[in-house]
Amino acid sequence: MKHSIGGICVSIVQKEQHKPREGFATSLGVITATLGSAVGLGNIWKFPYMTGENGGAAFILVYLLCVILVGLPVMISELIIGRTTQANAITAFKRLAPNRPWYLVGVSGTAASFLIMAFYTTVAGWVFSYIFKAASGVISTTDPEVTTQVFKTSMSAVWSPLLWQWFVLLFTGSIIMLGVTKGIERITKTLMPILFLLLLICVIRALTLPGASEGLKFLFRPDFSKITGATILTAMGLSFFKLSVGMGTMITYGSYFGFRENIPYTAVKVMLSDTLVSILAGMAIFPAVFAFGFKPDAGPSLLFITIPTVFASMPLGNIFMVLFFLLVSIAATGAMISLLEVPVAYFTEELKWSRLKATLVTIISIALVGTTATLSFSTLGDTKFFDKTFFDLYDFLTSNILLPVGGLLITYFIAWKWGLKNIAREASNNGSLSNQPVINIYFFIVRYLAPIAITLILLNGLGFIKI
Ligand code: TRP
Repeated sequence: MKHSIGGICVSIVQKEQHKPREGFATSLGVITATLGSAVGLGNIWKFPYMTGENGGAAFILVYLLCVILVGLPVMISELIIGRTTQANAITAFKRLAPNRPWYLVGVSGTAASFLIMAFYTTVAGWVFSYIFKAASGVISTTDPEVTTQVFKTSMSAVWSPLLWQWFVLLFTGSIIMLGVTKGIERITKTLMPILFLLLLICVIRALTLPGASEGLKFLFRPDFSKITGATILTAMGLSFFKLSVGMGTMITYGSYFGFRENIPYTAVKVMLSDTLVSILAGMAIFPAVFAFGFKPDAGPSLLFITIPTVFASMPLGNIFMVLFFLLVSIAATGAMISLLEVPVAYFTEELKWSRLKATLVTIISIALVGTTATLSFSTLGDTKFFDKTFFDLYDFLTSNILLPVGGLLITYFIAWKWGLKNIAREASNNGSLSNQPVINIYFFIVRYLAPIAITLILLNGLGFIKI
């Protein structure tokens, strides 16, 4: 019944605006936009450095379990909520549970998108600036000391990282201003194929380095002694971050899906392709780490100090290096537009702002918060909360707390409040798909397995209980 209430609301809203709601026009666009959101700095920056810090293959296995048992079910749940309600993350809950506090899940998710963007744009700024560093030749060296020094100097400056961060915001903001079909869909359709091609080129180059096999061993041979409660929480946090779930990005994108799209199938495709990109990124980075004698646990700087050395030793290395950082910039762009779209969709739909105003207000607010993240590597380096700089705090708070809690509430809501009948109708496109077995497995996971697993991993990782 609640669903039909949602349906009525949609038609009223559409009449008021005298135009149909924008969405992704093609199935290909649905895939490229959703995958474009999932693939990002998470694959090429976070995944490799976290794998490096947490001991390699064993961490990857825990991560994969989290992706399949928790991340994917949350993703399907969000897409279902979005498409059913045809609304942004906050309004979606208002439609499904009118006069109940569930919309606060959307509010907290929208707030999380600002916090994620605050540190994400810092790193994206470094990446964009590295395109030019690579082109100019300053990092064309196989000497780790030099690449380390260049990285330290450039991120501890005050103005240049800030200007890059603001540039990144303006750049992604201008794509968002173009709208859902002409902005998000069109841009990701063009960029995603380029991204895959560039990634393959980089992997082939890295695998043909002498000593590449050490890196592959690290990536594929598990050592379970490295796994602790905190590691498992990190892996789960990464799985949420990777699949862009737990805060409403997928609710927002799901609301742009056509009614013919097969939601569970699309989510599985996106999850598999995203995981493939992470593994390929690992295969581009770890051979170089071992070939040139770097430590795999260098942390967030890993990408910036190792990758230049992969290319520096080869003919036309500079060109490949430029291509690599271009690839990372492309990946980051697809992810950032999906993060921006969450507040922008709310502002335009609920507050009736123009897309221009909504985008400007969003990027200016992010620039303000984001400045504290960027300056964490220079003037604000000593300002710490719980022993974390602003940058680390935003990262930890979102990945390890806000996203898992959001995911927990979303699975609880869909499985216990909304229920199997509604889920089955939406996930089967009103019965036109015969995917009942898939829906049953999904329902079991979101009703029992995912909420219990998220709760235990959270409490254990934060030290409240010991398993
Ligand atoms: N998934 C993206 C990445 O891996 C980041 C991202 C985009 C994200 N949208 C999100 C993370 C929403 C959490 C929530 O880089």
